[in-house]
Amino acid sequence: MTDYDSLERQLTALLDTRDWLTNAAQTSAFLMQTLEKLNWVGFYLQRQPETLILGPFQGLPACNPIPFSKGVCGAAARSRQTQRVDDVHAVPDHIACDAASRSELVVPIVVADDLWGVLDIDSPVPARFSREDQAGIERLCRVFIDASDLTASAPRR
Ligand code: SME
Repeated sequence: MTDYDSLERQLTALLDTRDWLTNAAQTSAFLMQTLEKLNWVGFYLQRQPETLILGPFQGLPACNPIPFSKGVCGAAARSRQTQRVDDVHAVPDHIACDAASRSELVVPIVVADDLWGVLDIDSPVPARFSREDQAGIERLCRVFIDASDLTASAPRR
């Protein structure tokens, strides 16, 4: 099982600036290196109303932009609830950026009641993400939020 306590300590030590861009890049690289069986990790940011634009990521070039009305990322943005999808082929409006993706976890990043963006993680393995993974990755998102000046990023609406 993944040791999320250890990952939380490591990520906290890694994020040694308040700059959200640096921290988002570091966080996506850290997750790609430390979590097994992933093919894509990255951030989508809300910088226009009801739209997600691609931010720092690891993996293949990805879809951009993503409207709130579409895909697993859009569902996370609309609902502000983590989306844990065991089989992306079973989601009718799943957006296939990388044909290898089989399961997906998308965590909304909410700051002061504003949706800043989402963290999207894809795996080539069906049902890669357990409830424990969801809770652990949500904790790692909290480390990113607490370490970063997210209100200083850009006007979003
Ligand atoms: N699969 C996502 C789109 C983003 S890519 O996976 C990087 C979705 O359905 O929203």
